Amino acid sequence: MKRSIITQFVKNPKTTGAIAPSSSFLSKKIISGLNFKDAQTIVELGPGTGAITAFIEKELNEHNKFFGIELNEDIYHFVSNRFPNQKFYLDSASNLPKILKKENLDLVDIIISGLPWAAFHDELQDSILDAILESLKEGGIFTTFAYLHGSILPAAKSFKQKLHKYFSHVEKSNIVWRNIPPAYVYKCHK
Ligand SMILES: C[S@@+](CC[C@H](N)C(=O)[O-])C[C@H]1O[C@@H](n2cnc3c(N)ncnc32)[C@H](O)[C@@H]1O
Repeated sequence: MKRSIITQFVKNPKTTGAIAPSSSFLSKKIISGLNFKDAQTIVELGPGTGAITAFIEKELNEHNKFFGIELNEDIYHFVSNRFPNQKFYLDSASNLPKILKKENLDLVDIIISGLPWAAFHDELQDSILDAILESLKEGGIFTTFAYLHGSILPAAKSFKQKLHKYFSHVEKSNIVWRNIPPAYVYKCHK
């Protein structure tokens, strides 16, 4: 099973967009400063094999409602087995508003994304960003990462511009060198 998961990353570069799961250094940076204590609902988009999920799970308290949305079926089964106490949907992140309705939930406090934005075409970036904005509470936080080497790609440049258009305040972290490849984190406030 593990081998087939690694194969998924190699075989589906357009959807996995990664050569390795996020390191513990990047995962910690992504969730640093997020207020789990006062949050009701937390969502992870594109959990993959669960590199960031493992750190999210450590922060969750009994008042938090958490679920992840993963598009790749093999990876979805892997992550669901790895975290038997957490809920995952086999679906696209663009369906987040529909999933919230199904869960009988209103708006989300924190959205954590491991999605490969630079591998997405323009319309897909827009439809997922629309879904995120529609689902996030006023004052809510959306956090995601981008690979350093990818930042010269047109899709990455346009994604960065969109973040500034969609969100009232966007913070970019310093580079996390201890990740393959090095990356940085965006924290975006609605
Ligand atoms: C770069 S991997 C990141 C995995 C993990 N979060 C990490 O940081 O190591 C991206 C993941 O997003 C998933 N994915 C891609 N497009 C998606 C979509 N539209 N909705 C939900 N998940 C998606 C892929 O299948 C893959 O598991």
